[in-house]
Amino acid sequence: MIKYLKTDPWLVIEEGFEAKHHRSSESIFSLGNGTFGQRACHEEKYSGPTLQGSYVAGVYYPDKTRVGWWKNGYPEYFAKVLNSTNWTGIDIQIDGEELDLAKLEVSEFRRVLNMKEGTLTRSFVVHLNESMIGFRDGGRSKQMKVEVTRFISMADYETAAIRYSLTPLNFSGEVTFSPYLDGDVKNHDSNYDEKFWIEVSKSVQEGEGVLVTRTKKTDFELAVAMNCVLEGARWQTSMDYSLVRSTATVKADKGKEIVFYKYIGLVSSLNYSPGVCAESAVKAAKRAKENGFEKMHAAHIAKWASIWDLADIRIDGDAEAQQGIRFNIFHLNQTYTGEDARLNIGPKGFTGEKYGGSTYWDTEAYCIPFYMATKDAQVARQLLVYRYNQLGKAIENAEKLGFENGAALYPMVTMNGEECHNEWEITFEEIHRNGAIAYAIYNYITYTGDKEYLAQYGWDVLLGIARFWSQRIHWSEDKQKYVMLGVTGPNEYENNVNNNWYTNYIAVWCMKYCGEVLEYIKKNHPSAYAEKAAKYHFEEEKEVARWKDIEAKMYYPTKEGTKIFLQQDGFLDKELRSAASLPSNQRPINQHWSWDRILRSCFIKQADVLQGLYFFEEHFDKQVLKENFDFYEPMTVHESSLSPCVHSILACSLGYDEKAYEMYLRTARLDLDDYNHEAHEGLHITSRAGTWMSVVQGFGGMRVYDGKLQFNARLPKQWKGFAFNILHNGKRVHVEVDANG
Ligand code: BGC
Repeated sequence: MIKYLKTDPWLVIEEGFEAKHHRSSESIFSLGNGTFGQRACHEEKYSGPTLQGSYVAGVYYPDKTRVGWWKNGYPEYFAKVLNSTNWTGIDIQIDGEELDLAKLEVSEFRRVLNMKEGTLTRSFVVHLNESMIGFRDGGRSKQMKVEVTRFISMADYETAAIRYSLTPLNFSGEVTFSPYLDGDVKNHDSNYDEKFWIEVSKSVQEGEGVLVTRTKKTDFELAVAMNCVLEGARWQTSMDYSLVRSTATVKADKGKEIVFYKYIGLVSSLNYSPGVCAESAVKAAKRAKENGFEKMHAAHIAKWASIWDLADIRIDGDAEAQQGIRFNIFHLNQTYTGEDARLNIGPKGFTGEKYGGSTYWDTEAYCIPFYMATKDAQVARQLLVYRYNQLGKAIENAEKLGFENGAALYPMVTMNGEECHNEWEITFEEIHRNGAIAYAIYNYITYTGDKEYLAQYGWDVLLGIARFWSQRIHWSEDKQKYVMLGVTGPNEYENNVNNNWYTNYIAVWCMKYCGEVLEYIKKNHPSAYAEKAAKYHFEEEKEVARWKDIEAKMYYPTKEGTKIFLQQDGFLDKELRSAASLPSNQRPINQHWSWDRILRSCFIKQADVLQGLYFFEEHFDKQVLKENFDFYEPMTVHESSLSPCVHSILACSLGYDEKAYEMYLRTARLDLDDYNHEAHEGLHITSRAGTWMSVVQGFGGMRVYDGKLQFNARLPKQWKGFAFNILHNGKRVHVEVDANG
């Protein structure tokens, strides 16, 4: 745990500048509006360690795969979310000296993320090195007060604005502002150290400029325009490869504030034809400037107010828990707004590069419930349609691996439906992801009652998935049961195992659910059924018979004499010990142990059997849940951000209040307190939705059975009360829990 931020219900506050925290802060204080986003890098030059990162939703590059030893079936590329034009840059000189926090003394540093208003501010006093005043008195450095506010508009998705103010505290002199747009940027995770962008066009004139860049191979165009305001400025312009810059020097009088504004317009060929990107970006920047900072900011804050009005969760009497949950809700809303079916939710959102900004099973398993309950049902539907649109690619993906007859294997990692992941144990084996995609359809239908979706899109996806499982499972003569060999379950700390209980269970459930939906469509939408049956060459009798046979004779490993489901056939051969027995200097084990040692150990990265018991809680009695939780949780090291939330929810169901609270804090403050020492790489955006689930489904005990809401709330003793809203069937439900019930 690394704790350096102050606690506040609506703010994240960093006081005092320490370079060692800067990269983590760049992630934590990131801003975004679903369309684009920026790490909280300093606007002015910073020569210390930094991960300059600016990302645009849906714009990616197929970076050629890099692996040690090629295996048949590996994807050719890994689709990366692209580090793109840096639009925040403003170089500052004070009396000719560069403002660079890595080189100058800084006092009163305060960086604040205002989550209520979606605004990032920084203020500090900088002490210059080179030019001193009052030499005769032993010399005092010149001091400049700096105050910066920036936001990415939620009200106008193509714009952002920065207000940068300087006040000389003890001298008069001059300052130079040099705002720029820099498209000559690189992904830090580029496989071959290659740049992904080329310059297309640029132009610059007094305080204004536009830069158009294009991705190699995928041909996405990105146009970014700036429009700057500085009273009394006489701008000079300059250009370089993929760079436009304007520079102006103005007088700075002691005690008098100088305010500079940089308005940004940003569009891509995702929404405009390439020929008009430049002019559209210029128009957007102009629109921002004409509105002015205050008006634009007010509209942005109003949009956030409407988001919070529904999505906020109030926790009384526990400031850390309160800040944690708002931090999560804030980042989820910054990452995905649900207006575009081509977009999805990358595990790091706009806060970093690892995981490539691509789509994982995280969306279906963790994010859908949050978006379903805090937004119009249309938003979750979009996320489902995203997978429907990629069904063809999922079928091709399965074909590459030798499956046939329309079997679909959705990718573990994707941007456009093609598999990008290139580790055999995940690409080929972590097939449980198919189950989560089917489960999300079920979850959506249960919550919204939108059964039309099944006839329109849902069954197509379910059929492809059911066909995959029916081919992947085979008959074991020895066991006289159906089995599934060579898989990796959600716990990635075991690979190539046989009969992972979770995968076996969800596979059979998928076939069963597909059969049920089939009956529904046949009865209620006969012509849709006839059309689909012909389209997919569906041999109903034969295929359904196979699903049923598998359902009747599937093998599920269990521990004799108990209700414990085994994570896999060989699990009990392991040396079983609790994670508490691990010395703290060996944790997280993935940063200290060799991979083979991890694989041989009993330690569990994230919920596996328990993931199944979470999804299918109503299939099992409490005793089953208790025995499995008591057996697995102590061996779980929670080294995936997706782990603590599921455990918190299950602990609530079992009345394990302390455990539920411990797991809640861990999920809610995972990045704020940097539990896994990796916040500098970016935030764990998808698991933020899990935190929301741990309040609403965990402490709130919300379940939906047959379209009906049910609550079974528990109040942690650390809290005085809590409250949340959900949207259900178009109605807003407000839930308030306190010590009286
Ligand atoms: C987890 C996966 C998850 C991925 C992206 C991994 O560490 O084990 O379950 O899909 O991160 O969040």
